[in-house]
Amino acid sequence: MKTIIEPFRIKSVEPIRMTTREERVEKMRAAGYNLFKLHATDVIIDLLTDSGTGAMSSEQWAGIMRGDESYAGAPSYYRFLNTITRITGMTNVLPTHQGRASERLLVEAMIGSGGAGKGKVVPNNAHFDTTRANIEHSGAETPDLLTEEGMRTASTAPFKGNMDVGKLRALLKDRSDDVPFVMVTVTCNSSGGQPVSLGNLREVRAVCDEFGIPLFLDACRFAENAWFIKLREPGQQDRSVEAIVRDMFDLADGATISAKKDGMVNIGGVLLIRDDEKFHAASDLLILTEGYVTYGGLAGRDLEAMAVGFEEVLQEDYLQYRIRSTEYLGEKISEGGVAIVQPPGGHAIYIDAADFCPHIPKHEFPGQALACALYEHGGIRSCEIGSIMLGEHAIMELVRLAIPRRTYTQSHIDYVIEVILEVKARAAELPGYKIVEAPAALRHFTATFAPIGVKEMV
Ligand code: F0G
Repeated sequence: MKTIIEPFRIKSVEPIRMTTREERVEKMRAAGYNLFKLHATDVIIDLLTDSGTGAMSSEQWAGIMRGDESYAGAPSYYRFLNTITRITGMTNVLPTHQGRASERLLVEAMIGSGGAGKGKVVPNNAHFDTTRANIEHSGAETPDLLTEEGMRTASTAPFKGNMDVGKLRALLKDRSDDVPFVMVTVTCNSSGGQPVSLGNLREVRAVCDEFGIPLFLDACRFAENAWFIKLREPGQQDRSVEAIVRDMFDLADGATISAKKDGMVNIGGVLLIRDDEKFHAASDLLILTEGYVTYGGLAGRDLEAMAVGFEEVLQEDYLQYRIRSTEYLGEKISEGGVAIVQPPGGHAIYIDAADFCPHIPKHEFPGQALACALYEHGGIRSCEIGSIMLGEHAIMELVRLAIPRRTYTQSHIDYVIEVILEVKARAAELPGYKIVEAPAALRHFTATFAPIGVKEMV
């Protein structure tokens, strides 16, 4: 059998409100051409993010009812704790409300607060925005040490999330006293949802050991990463995903996890730190700002949903469908002549908007042009990751189509493919954009724009 089907049936549905092109053109204008400002009910297919937007299973909803709301020591906490320990082998586990809360606690426990990071440096294969922001908030620097291959969009290398071990060794040789810890993000969101191999993790670990530096994983998409290892890394094909996941965590001194991704929940996070002293420091900080150590700013029911979600994400039928359905979208639009970051990532497809709209210069935001066109033409919400989001730091003009977990069916994805290819056929007509108003920082969330050379309709 060739067809890989969604390995679930649908018991509860959420209607999609269909809109007309005219309506969407008006909504876009009213939103100042900023997709973050749209009402979600005006979106047909929402590919803004895969974070917290997935569908929970009937078992997770059953867990929601089972959730125990005791302030301390709830059975829901112990179910959560046992699941995380079984999967990762780590016993020092804190629940948090989401990934960035774990990041803040990690930074404060490992570096300190109030500018304690000045003169320090925390490398990563490529930091996610919130990880970078939390580390930089401490005063520390945040270099990305991706391999050259990882930065070439057209390269189809199997592990484009790998860290350049040579660059890491050079950095540690020079400044090991300034490095409180090293991070590796699996899969690497900032380089296109690309995986990191076990071989690379082992080499990074060995270099960290040489200099006595702890290694942490940003493990939001750990199961998708493990599936890629099973598919692509020599010698891993016959191993279980659980065994591969365990190898990944065994190489680390701890991890930050946003459970809104591979935890399959709408809210939640995890912080793991093997070192008891640092773990206790993080626990004290958790109590100060999030809540007691057995709930971490969540409800007991959220801990139940996580306990079930972290188990379900390791099911091989699920992972096969998940990775294949993202790849299917990438394959079909590539065949239609759309340049994407290759090979397709785990959670998202990234379109090269500069290639899609070669007539639109960087300062007129080709990614914005494409994202607006996908909404106006087909009601699809995507996310610009280029000169608007990253300003002068943007190396590429990308549009990310992130796929929520277990949410859309193949015909939804076929519709997305059709819309993209129809917009592609008329790409030369797309206008560039100018900024009307923008705040000083994180402008992509709130800035307003106007198309260039298009008359305002009265
Ligand atoms: N690390 C990575 C690799 C992420 O992708 C994210 C979130 C975080 C950390 C932070 O987790 O949102 O729970 O605080 N990424 C989302 C995205 C927002 O759309 O890629 P959080």
